[in-house]
Amino acid sequence: MDTLLAVRARGITKCFGDVVALDGVDLDVTQGQIHGVAGPNGAGKTTLLGLLLGLAAADSGRLEILGTPVGRTPAAAAGVAGFVDGPGLYPSLTARQNLAALAALHGLDARTAAIDEVLDQVGLTDVADDRTRGFSLGMRQRLGLAAALLTEPRLLVLDEPSNGLDPAGKRHVANVLTGLADRGTAVVLSSHRMDDLEALCSEVTIVATGRVVFSGPPGKLAAENRALDYRLLTSDPPAARRLAAGTDGIRVVDGAGSAHDAERLVVRGQVPALDALVVRLVGEGIALRELAPLVSPLEAAFLALTEQQEAGR
Ligand SMILES: Nc1ncnc2c1ncn2[C@@H]1O[C@H](COP(=O)(O)OP(=O)(O)O)[C@@H](O)[C@H]1O
Ligand SMILES: [Mg+2]
Repeated sequence: MDTLLAVRARGITKCFGDVVALDGVDLDVTQGQIHGVAGPNGAGKTTLLGLLLGLAAADSGRLEILGTPVGRTPAAAAGVAGFVDGPGLYPSLTARQNLAALAALHGLDARTAAIDEVLDQVGLTDVADDRTRGFSLGMRQRLGLAAALLTEPRLLVLDEPSNGLDPAGKRHVANVLTGLADRGTAVVLSSHRMDDLEALCSEVTIVATGRVVFSGPPGKLAAENRALDYRLLTSDPPAARRLAAGTDGIRVVDGAGSAHDAERLVVRGQVPALDALVVRLVGEGIALRELAPLVSPLEAAFLALTEQQEAGR
């Protein structure tokens, strides 16, 4: 038998009136995998994750969660936890009381030790006895994650968990997710930024206007040879501009306007052409001070793919 897939989706379609939110989406998530779903606003991420959580049913296609086919009636499968559009919390209760209430709701043994442990895991120990009314978005996201952890899920689904998180919060969440995955939990998380997913996810599925435009390891996406925009700072901007314009495979894309812009040079090209440009600059006695991509290769590939899809709609 194949390895059990935590999620197996084939040809999933979901419409809201005239809007086709998902259009023939396939998704495979193995156990112990952290799988990213990336896409711009309106791509269909929340809709897809909502189907995994049993918040709605697909119009067509086949969906299996933890080996069990999902029927027409939406319902959360046993072993699945998570949230879309932020976790539901009782604002007048403290963080700790929210978790105790949730545990009671799920018929879990609400041991204080378990609650303390999940609060510690997400870095909320210091505010455990504060009412959640005053919590920031990042704190609410982390409490939602703590609540999901209490149920010891085999599939964890988190919609844009990076929203509102500061660097310390991101680190807590990343540690929790990798720890869970190491113990065999499958994690599906979404983001509108590829950079958020790169470090965490072994596989990503990119959706744009309801369709999958890429599926695979993030490294495969970044490795695709693609011309990127680079900021070029040198000791002699006008000469550097002339040289760049005269180098095969390089296009000057910015900074040609006002006198103020003359210092700011942005060039577009693939790595071999940039290498040739640097060699020429140095050969002409022009010092190179900075050559840096404006966005990461991964983010650039993501933007290119999703913009193509949106343009062709
Ligand atoms: N409940 C709904 N009613 C009507 N349209 C919806 C609903 N939910 C989502 N949509 C539409 O479906 C598309 C995908 O939305 P969504 O899944 O929220 O995208 P994302 O989470 O990637 O930003 C959008 O065009 C959105 O307007
Ligand atoms: Mg969304």
